[in-house]
Amino acid sequence: MWSEDVWDPAQYERFRDERSQPFFDLVGLVRPRPGMRVVDLGCGTGELTALLHGRLEARETIGIDASEAMLEQARPRSAGGLRFEPGDIAAWDGRDFDLVFSNAALHWVEDHDELFTRLRRALTAGGQLAVQVPANHEHPSQTVAVAVAREEPFRRAFRGWTRVSPVLAPHEYAGLLERIGFAEQHVRLQVYGHRLDSRDEVVEWLRGTTLTDYQQRLDPDLWDGFLARYRERLLPRLPDRRPFFFTFQRILIWGRL
Ligand SMILES: C[S@@+](CC[C@H](N)C(=O)[O-])C[C@H]1O[C@@H](n2cnc3c(N)ncnc32)[C@H](O)[C@@H]1O
Repeated sequence: MWSEDVWDPAQYERFRDERSQPFFDLVGLVRPRPGMRVVDLGCGTGELTALLHGRLEARETIGIDASEAMLEQARPRSAGGLRFEPGDIAAWDGRDFDLVFSNAALHWVEDHDELFTRLRRALTAGGQLAVQVPANHEHPSQTVAVAVAREEPFRRAFRGWTRVSPVLAPHEYAGLLERIGFAEQHVRLQVYGHRLDSRDEVVEWLRGTTLTDYQQRLDPDLWDGFLARYRERLLPRLPDRRPFFFTFQRILIWGRL
């Protein structure tokens, strides 16, 4: 579970339109069946969970999230078989789902071999897994955060912690799905290009997601210093064009037992 809830739904939602395209691409991979029982792991504000529930005309959809701030936004959307529950994906051990769905959340959980094996156990015969994970860890927006974390005084404050992405290569997910018994699969890397007003917006984007992992480990003063240093090192590495074209790689994973 999160030691501190640093997810800010408003900050996350700032780039809602850009973030929703991969969700729709992922939903497009799912084969709807009548009366599905669905779980959405790391459901966030629940807005997309509600869309998923409606699109699939699911019998039951449960959105799971570890952040109370996100769940507060999600709960009012509960209706007609859709509901939200607190939970930690790293320990989640549900059963009897026709679809395990997760958009932009599993990259917060370590050991994807173990994780996908556990998620497979949650599926009924013929059940489907649909996952989208960001795979942008080689972009300067990510590598600069790692580099700043290695500088003092942050290094000392992090006590040796560094943020290592647990995301595998696309071919490794394909091999994993085959190994754990998926009869059919579709795995692809997709580059999403986002036209942001300026390169400064990249910082705002990251503040809504990746940087929360750094923020929750620093006291507020040090966090302000970290953010300032991140901005100082990152911006010169990005071309000063308006609009700024932010490339974002994501892996879409679908499998059916
Ligand atoms: C980037 S947001 C994605 C939200 C939503 N799926 C969407 O597409 O808009 C990631 C979500 O995963 C949740 N999350 C991260 N790690 C988690 C964990 N270990 N267990 C449960 N939820 C987690 C966060 O609280 C956050 O709401």
